[in-house]
Formats: sequence, structure tokens, C-alpha cells
Amino acid sequence: MRGLPDLAGALVLTLLSGPAWSAGNPERGRQLADRWCASCHLVGPEQREASADVPSFASVARRDDLSEALLAAFLTNPHPPMPNMSLTRQEIADVLAYIRGLR
Ligand code: HEC
Repeated sequence: MRGLPDLAGALVLTLLSGPAWSAGNPERGRQLADRWCASCHLVGPEQREASADVPSFASVARRDDLSEALLAAFLTNPHPPMPNMSLTRQEIADVLAYIRGLR
């Protein structure tokens, strides 16, 4: 995926040094994923249908090249075809805590 490393460079420091950054809550993350992500991504093992060609969250969780900082940067400012969902930092932390748990 092109664009991700540049984005990360710009955003990672801001994200990681912000005082509002706190530990994610995986249960809230699951609810957010069901609401905002499940129309395109397979967000959990029991979901049967999602869009073709969109990575499942389980496969995202297993990718070693996608660090949490990169994912946070990506979700802060996603690019098409993903819509910009304007997630708050806390929501991003929650979703990432959930995805981490799928590993
Ligand atoms: C309208 C459809 C759509 C929705 C809704 C959506 N995504 Fe995506 N997402 C995509 C597509 C398509 C890609 C693949 C983009 C690419 O490969 O360039 C993607 C890629 C990603 C990736 C990067 C995977 C990689 O290979 O680098 C992550 C992480 C991700 N989405 C998380 C989320 C999260 C979290 C949500 C909900 C908050 C969400 N997406 C909602 C369509 C969507």
C-alpha cells in the first residue's frame, strides 16, 4: 500500500506523544468495528460476508509489517477506497486493541 510510510512519518510522533493517548478497550473496539468497519472488512471470526479484496482484521493483525503506530496513523487519515471515519484517538486505540486481540 503506497502512502502509508509517509503518513506514518508525519503522524506517529504526534500520536504517540499526545497526552490524550491511552490504552485501548478491546470491547469498545469490537463495537466500533461492528458499526464502522464490518460493511467492508471481516471484523471477527463469526462474520461470514464482507467485500472481496478487503483485508480481514485477522489478517491485518497477523501482518508484521503493520505496526500499531502505522495502523494508528492510517486510521487517523485513511485514503481511498477507505472512507475517512473521523475516529477519535480513543476510538482508534480501542479498535487497535481489538485487532491486536485477533492475532
Ligand atoms: C467502505 C469500505 C471500508 C470501510 C467502511 C472500512 N474499510 Fe478499511 N479498508 C478498505 C479497503 C478497500 C482497504 C484496502 C486499501 C488498500 O489496500 O489500499 C482497507 C484497508 C484497511 C487497513 C489497512 C490494511 C493494509 O493492508 O494495510 C486497515 C488497518 C483498515 N482498513 C482498517 C479499517 C477500520 C479499523 C475500519 C473501521 C473503523 C475500516 N477499515 C473501515 C475498505 C473499508
